[in-house]
Amino acid sequence: MLPKAEIHVHLEGTATPQLVQQMAQRNEVEVPDHIFKSSELFAWRDFLDFLNTYDLASSSIQHPRDYYDVTYDYLQRCAQQGAIYVEMMYSPEHAERASGIPSREHLLAIDQAIKDAKELFNIEGRTIITCVRHFGLDACVKVAKHTVEAAAEFDTVVGLGMGGDEAGYPPALFKTAYDIAAAAGIPCTIHAGEMDGPERIWEAIETLPINRLGHGVRAIEDPKLIDAIIERDIVLEVCPTSNVVLGVYQDYQTHPLLKLLEAGVKVTLNSDDPPYFGTTIGEEYDIAEQQFGLTQAQLRHITKTAIQAAYVDKTTQQQLLARC
Ligand code: ADE
Ligand code: ZN
Repeated sequence: MLPKAEIHVHLEGTATPQLVQQMAQRNEVEVPDHIFKSSELFAWRDFLDFLNTYDLASSSIQHPRDYYDVTYDYLQRCAQQGAIYVEMMYSPEHAERASGIPSREHLLAIDQAIKDAKELFNIEGRTIITCVRHFGLDACVKVAKHTVEAAAEFDTVVGLGMGGDEAGYPPALFKTAYDIAAAAGIPCTIHAGEMDGPERIWEAIETLPINRLGHGVRAIEDPKLIDAIIERDIVLEVCPTSNVVLGVYQDYQTHPLLKLLEAGVKVTLNSDDPPYFGTTIGEEYDIAEQQFGLTQAQLRHITKTAIQAAYVDKTTQQQLLARC
């Protein structure tokens, strides 16, 4: 099986409806029925409704045991699809808000699940702590400070990220939060150029200490921006199915994956939120082959790009590259 790597997936967004229902039941949390389409898929209408559905489903994740199960379950499924490395964005605010349990306890559980999955399935997992834009700047500064402490304690905590409502909350708003993480040597990424245009990507790369972009696909609309991304060696975390399902592009034919590759941009393949978008990391590789016509050699190259861009320590990175 072709080795695969994923560097853009939301940990809370990997929990299947089946697992969310189990956790809701054992934690006695009410989750409305209308968010479930099937045991494998969530139901939502548009981007803001997706974010709301995501927050509702995530409210079922309350205890460290829940985070253990979500992490272990996802890494097991990824390993079965040939993934050798997965970097998962964990949002400390979701569980802290829902349960009041300090994030450190959740991180202990995630760390244990990552170690167990490594031992049992030979897959490396790492955690990026992620802020949520629509929770505001103060919350993000708190998350950035927490990331500095967590990265010092857990060798599986490796970076800072940010998702949420891009159009309502532009990147520059969050400079203080990013500067806190970068000053402590923590590498950073941000969603930009997904729900807003290339001007937001410019804003992100000009004001924030980032070396990767979540999505970033709308950079294709601005040739100078493409040049800047290449010159600054910024890697794109591309999620083709997420973009099509959320309506950023009408279909795979109009998605800019191939144009970005042809322009010389470093591109990776990712699933984003698998049960919301009806995909998996394995399927994203299949789609890249079948819909975009990428060869096995190109797909292997994409895995290498992801591992080279990963926020993992150098020793593990070399071991992973040897498996590609
Ligand atoms: N949070 C979870 N998935 C997201 C996405 N695709 N964009 C922005 N924020 C998110
Ligand atoms: Zn995302």
